[in-house]
Amino acid sequence: VKDIVQPFVWRGGELCILDQRKLPGRETWIRARDAETVARAIETLAVRGAPAIGIAAGYGVALAALHSRATTDSVLRAIERLRRTRPTGYNLFHILDVMTQMVTMGRGNLGARVLKRAQQCHAEDVRACLAMARYGVSLLKNDERVLTYCNTGALATGGIGTALGVIKLGFSRGIVREVFACETRPVAQGARLTVWECAKSGIPVTLLCDNMVAALLQTGRVTRIFVGADRIARNGDTSNKIGTLQLALMAKRFAIPFHVAAPTTTFDKRLRTGKAIPIEERTPDEILKGVPGLARLKGVRVWNPAFDVTPGCLVTSYITEKGIKHPPFLF
Ligand code: MRU
Repeated sequence: VKDIVQPFVWRGGELCILDQRKLPGRETWIRARDAETVARAIETLAVRGAPAIGIAAGYGVALAALHSRATTDSVLRAIERLRRTRPTGYNLFHILDVMTQMVTMGRGNLGARVLKRAQQCHAEDVRACLAMARYGVSLLKNDERVLTYCNTGALATGGIGTALGVIKLGFSRGIVREVFACETRPVAQGARLTVWECAKSGIPVTLLCDNMVAALLQTGRVTRIFVGADRIARNGDTSNKIGTLQLALMAKRFAIPFHVAAPTTTFDKRLRTGKAIPIEERTPDEILKGVPGLARLKGVRVWNPAFDVTPGCLVTSYITEKGIKHPPFLF
């Protein structure tokens, strides 16, 4: 599978970030020359998806280290700033830990060695995506009709994607016959990004609103569900985009296999269960702006968690770059 979509490109000493907030309407790029610009791009969802956030942050550290007056302290401050951008996805913290080690323990030119490590993290994710796609496809039978959630493709990673990477490879091999993408309210990563990415890759896709999933599953038109993950605890509890838990519960009810595809950089070995996963709450505006006039009404409160936690017992299998894991889960 070749992918023409990339969430960012390192070029001429800057990180060019495809502004995903503007997709699918416009393809505009943010030219990040410092860590603060990368941090803001992460906070505002210009770049999003757990692996892509981690890699972008790695490049953010490189930008700080390449600054003409960079010191170990100034780069460590940039790392702390990047840590405060989004709390749930674990890849961010994994890569920032790797970068901290490189800053404090590495030898030689600070900027050069930090940039090299950021590029290595990027390359590792490209390979992990390919490996996950190959393992994931081995689960498929013929004529699969798959449902996916949020955006887990090239836009969300350094490579071809996690769950969507499996689907793309399955489609290119003629094993996946139909793809269903959920809208994924309130930010519509499914409707805006997955649909755009599928169109770019020449994959026909059927879009549905999130509240249509049960009805679709009831028709028997879906053979499997593939989702990505933002952080996975040792018992397999999986945080992913808000709404994933509903999908997992429905999959159980309709006896449809529910697969989670994620690189090992998403697994947080310090957490025994998903209870301790910090769940990001985002601004009410994301929900309010979807209904004109709503923001002016008095007495309307909004709850806007960006992620939920699916218990490991609802997951049929995990697809990682190291292979497939089946229950009981204990990492
Ligand atoms: O808020 P987002 O768009 O960063 O959330 C993204 C997701 O929840 C994805 O499903 C997850 O990061 C896996 S993507 C490879």
